[in-house]
Amino acid sequence: MAENLLISDGSKEDKYRELLPQIKAVVAGEQDMIANMANVAAMIHETFGFLWTGFYRVMGEELVLGPFQGPLACTRIRRGHGVCGTSWQKGETLIVPDVEAFPGHIACSSLSRSEIVVPVRKDGVIIAVLDIDSEQLSTFDDVDSRWLMDIAETLAV
Ligand code: SME
Repeated sequence: MAENLLISDGSKEDKYRELLPQIKAVVAGEQDMIANMANVAAMIHETFGFLWTGFYRVMGEELVLGPFQGPLACTRIRRGHGVCGTSWQKGETLIVPDVEAFPGHIACSSLSRSEIVVPVRKDGVIIAVLDIDSEQLSTFDDVDSRWLMDIAETLAV
């Protein structure tokens, strides 16, 4: 596998529709979770140009920084802390339109204004979260949540 990502200009929905099968193709050829998370983060990041796109992996009672694209990030987040730790604890996708209005938000970058966090499950157990940060307010909605949950499912191989 050494092909370039191909995404045409179009709506957010159109981009996700083109992105998902390309992610599936890349992930299908590899069993290693870290390698797949690395490529998935890169493909989402390249498609949308978000501030930060990456994974935190569940390690005991903490989330530990995994593969990502974007600026330097905090390495460990406790269960129930920040947007990531809250998504993990609740087992839910969280859309945060304004990070300053989310109590306990962890500001890894002062440029981050809105965020989405999607749990990654394997055999029903959360093994990681997919975290995306945007420099604009209210970037994420149900379209992102739906497609990113489908993308997260591709990792459960
Ligand atoms: N903002 C996240 C921390 C991770 S960084 O955004 C990369 C949080 O509140 O959990």
